[in-house]
Amino acid sequence: MSKIKVALGSDHAGYALKETLKQHLIVRGFEPVDVGTMSTDSCDYPAIAKDLCKTVLDENIHGVLVCGTGIGMSMAANRHEGIRAAVCANAFQCEMTRKHNDCNVLCVGERVTGVGAALSILDIFLDTEFEGGRHQRRVDLIELD
Ligand code: RB5
Repeated sequence: MSKIKVALGSDHAGYALKETLKQHLIVRGFEPVDVGTMSTDSCDYPAIAKDLCKTVLDENIHGVLVCGTGIGMSMAANRHEGIRAAVCANAFQCEMTRKHNDCNVLCVGERVTGVGAALSILDIFLDTEFEGGRHQRRVDLIELD
């Protein structure tokens, strides 16, 4: 069976955490699709978010974005139709945004969230299913606006 792909991206401020999350994905048997950045040289987070969203939508997979706060990445990602990005700084936020919002892009802030917490958040993102039902109707309403 082929491995499940997960798209990954960061700017310079999220590069170190992105690399750590990538290794964790590999250890867990996922196939990371790294859209960059590939160093700590300064770059623009909206461009990375755009590339990641294209990958998520084209390949119908989930994605993870890291910047300094996670906020800029989420703002940029949510401009793309079909993307439901959420900044998560704790496990509860991540569990609920998967169950209720069918979040397909997890955003994390390297300057906000420690490595241990970020790895736990990633695990929850990977392991939690959308509940559907009344939440599907609400998710559909997001796209109607
Ligand atoms: C980069 O300095 C920083 O602004 C960026 O990583 C992000 O936190 C923006 O939201």
